[in-house]
Amino acid sequence: MERRVGTSTKDNPPVSSNANRQWGGRFAEGPSAIMEAINASIGFDRKMWRQDIRGSLAHAAMLKHVGIISADDEAAIRDGLDRIAGRIEGGDFPFDEALEDIHMNIEARLSAMIGDAGKRLHTGRSRNDQVALDVRLWVRDAIDGLSGQVQDVMRALVARAEEHAGTVMPGFTHLQPAQPVTLGHHFLAYVEMLSRDLSRLGDCRARLNECPLGAAALAGTGFPIDRHMTAKALGFDGPTRNSLDSVASRDFAAEFLFCCSMTATHLSRLAEEIVIWTNPYFGFVKLSDAFTTGSSIMPQKRNPDAAELVRGKTGRVVGALVGLLTVMKGLAMTYFKDMQEDKEGVFDAAETLTLSLAATAGMVRDLKPDVGRLAAAAGAGFSTATDLADWLVRELKMPFRDAHHVTGALVAKAEGMGVDLSGLTIEEMREAEPRIHEGVYDVLSVAASVRSRTSYGGTAPANVAAMAAEWKAKLA
Ligand code: ARG
Repeated sequence: MERRVGTSTKDNPPVSSNANRQWGGRFAEGPSAIMEAINASIGFDRKMWRQDIRGSLAHAAMLKHVGIISADDEAAIRDGLDRIAGRIEGGDFPFDEALEDIHMNIEARLSAMIGDAGKRLHTGRSRNDQVALDVRLWVRDAIDGLSGQVQDVMRALVARAEEHAGTVMPGFTHLQPAQPVTLGHHFLAYVEMLSRDLSRLGDCRARLNECPLGAAALAGTGFPIDRHMTAKALGFDGPTRNSLDSVASRDFAAEFLFCCSMTATHLSRLAEEIVIWTNPYFGFVKLSDAFTTGSSIMPQKRNPDAAELVRGKTGRVVGALVGLLTVMKGLAMTYFKDMQEDKEGVFDAAETLTLSLAATAGMVRDLKPDVGRLAAAAGAGFSTATDLADWLVRELKMPFRDAHHVTGALVAKAEGMGVDLSGLTIEEMREAEPRIHEGVYDVLSVAASVRSRTSYGGTAPANVAAMAAEWKAKLA
C-alpha cells in the first residue's frame, strides 16, 4: 500500500512536540523570536569586533577634525571604545542578540557607558558603509596572515626540493609512469603554483584597498566629512569613488574566496599525491605518527588523515565561493540583507585554509621519501623509452616518427621477454634497427635520462638545484 506523507502509522508516528522543542523550541515564543533569530548576525559577525572598533576610532577622529563633534566627545568615545575592546578581549562583554550585529552591540554599549558622546558617533555614517568597511578590513587582515602561511609552505617545499634535487622518481601523466623526473622538481612544481596563489592574494589586497567608510547608507552624506582622512588612517590607498558601489559590492570578498579556493585546490592536489604515495603499493613516502592515525580495528593501518582532510576541506572553501556568488547574483542596487550571508563563508574559508596550510607545511616537513623505492619505480614501465627514441633521432638521424615506431617494437619485445629496455642484448635490438650500437645503453638508465633534461625548466638535477637556490633566496 502506498504510504501518504503526513499520515501517521505505527512505523511512522507523528512528529512529537518534544522533537519540535529540540529543533525549534524557542520559536514557539512567536514571531518576534523568529525574526530575531533570522535577523541577527552577532553570533558570527562578532569576529569583526577589532575591525569595527578600528573603523569607529578613525571615524570619530575625523568627525573631531572637521568640527562635527567636540574634542571632549572624541576623547570620551576613544576611551569608551578602548574599554569595550578590553572587555571583549577578556571575554567579559555581554553580546546581545536583540542588538542584531557587532556594530549595534558596540555602539549601544558605548552609549550606555558614555551617554550623548556615544550617540554622536554614528553621525555621517550608516551600518551599510560600516559593515562594508569591517568586512574589507577583516579580509585584508586575513590576506596578510594567509600570505605569510603560503610562504611558509613554499619554504618547506623548497627545503625538501634542495634535499632531493637528484632523487629520481617516476613522472606521471594519467597516473601512468611517463618519464623519470626528480622529486625536487616535483616539489618545485607546487612552489610555482603557490607563488601564483601568493601573487593573486596580493592582487586581491591591492584591489580591495579602497575605503567605503563615508558612503553612508547609499548616497553619501551632507556632513562635511573627510573621507580621505579616514581612508588614510585605516591604511587604505584612498576612498571608494561611488557611494552606491561602496555599500552594494562584495566582489572583493568573492575574489578573496576564489584566491582561497585556488590555493586550497593546489593543496588538495598535493594532499591527493601524499595519499597515493603513502599507499603501501606505492610506498614512495612515509608520514610519521604526527600526521597519521591508526585504525581502531586493523592494527597494521596507518591512515594519511591529515592529507585526506586537506583534500576534503577544499570542498568547503569552494562552496563558500559558490555560495557568495549565488547570494549576490540577483541583487539590484544597493544593500540588501542578503549580503549579511557573506560573512560566515568568508570566515570559514579563511579559517579552513589557515588550518590546511599549517597541516600541509607540517606534512611536507615530516614526510620521509623512500629513495630506493622511488628509484626502482622510476625505472619501471619502460620509462626511458622516449630517451631511446631521442637517441635514434640524434645518432641515426631517424625521423622522430620512425624512431617512435622502432622504440615501440623494442618495448614490445622487452615486455614479451620480461626484461626492461637495458635488458635487451645489442643483437636483439638490431632485429628492430640494424644500425643501433652499444652507445644506446648510455641513455637507457634513469640517471642519464634525468641528467639529460637540461632545457630551461627541465628536471635535470643541476637545474633543480639551481631553481631551489633561487627560490630559497627569494623567500629568505
Ligand atoms: N548585520 C548587517 C550585515 O551584516 C549590517 C548591515 C545592516 N544594514 C542594514 N541596513 N540593515 O549586513
